[in-house]
Amino acid sequence: MQNGFIQIYQRNAEAICGEIAAGLLAPNAWISPKYLYDGLGSKLFAAICELPEYYPTRTEAQILERCCSDIARSTGRGATLIDLGAGNCEKAARLFSAVQPAHYVPIDISVDFLRDAVESLRYRFPQIRMTGLGMDFSRSLELPDAVPREKRLFFYPGSSIGNFMPEEAAAFLGRVREACRADGGLLIGVDLLKHEELLQDAYDDAIGLTAAFNLNMLQHINHLLKADFRPRDWRHVSRFNAGESRIELHLEARRDLTVVWEGGSRHFAQGERIHTENSYKYTPERFLQLLERAGFGRVSKWIDPQGWFMLCHARAA
Ligand code: TRP
Repeated sequence: MQNGFIQIYQRNAEAICGEIAAGLLAPNAWISPKYLYDGLGSKLFAAICELPEYYPTRTEAQILERCCSDIARSTGRGATLIDLGAGNCEKAARLFSAVQPAHYVPIDISVDFLRDAVESLRYRFPQIRMTGLGMDFSRSLELPDAVPREKRLFFYPGSSIGNFMPEEAAAFLGRVREACRADGGLLIGVDLLKHEELLQDAYDDAIGLTAAFNLNMLQHINHLLKADFRPRDWRHVSRFNAGESRIELHLEARRDLTVVWEGGSRHFAQGERIHTENSYKYTPERFLQLLERAGFGRVSKWIDPQGWFMLCHARAA
């Protein structure tokens, strides 16, 4: 069985620092959510997924478990399962027995975390060929030749699609569609619009894991940009923006302060914020429209009894 790990994501320090600095210097400062996921960030996010307040992971897992034979009938067996943002690979592993992929291709930007996850997965599923890819798939979905073109089943769980602006989400889904042949498809999780209080709690949990996850980004930025952020000077803020149908995550300065990095600096007044992530919440109708706009064909969908989360299998043709 041929297995491997391919690292395409070469830290281009200059480009990374340029992007981060530009965001910090913008009138409304922002940092790309991909920098939430350094080694510690990936562990904190895995822990968030276990929190009682963070319903998406649990609800999606219930759908995957309850509907797995339906899902397998829809996707077919023997696919090349391409896991976008695989993390600890646990979500895909739960699909293996029903969907029986021939080849598993987990992709993640958090390279070392992924490499460890794939290593342990190989022992549990020796019959499945595995090729780990360390790359930033938000930029390009051009995959190396080691990834077969036939029967590609992209897997994008957890509602990460909600972290794109709707326009970007449509463009990204279009790129996924382009990376499929007529026999391919996409299995995607979508968090649905629901009562505001449930949403608020999911992004601001009682024991502060989500705050730690958001604040850890500053330590990652210190490392990448040689900046001097002091996490103690910042506060985790989450709020629901009903007009945009999204949860917004910010870091707010607790006092007037100046952040200095190699080649730049910025003053933040007390209360000023850095926008770190959006998490859009869709209605089923709006999301199906997005899939259609991206060029997908027939869609099968599964929703939990509470109507909190939707899993879709969108066929390329
Ligand atoms: N993609 C996850 C989501 O939108 C990420 C996430 C969960 C997150 N909690 C967070 C990102 C808190 C920043 C801060 O649900």
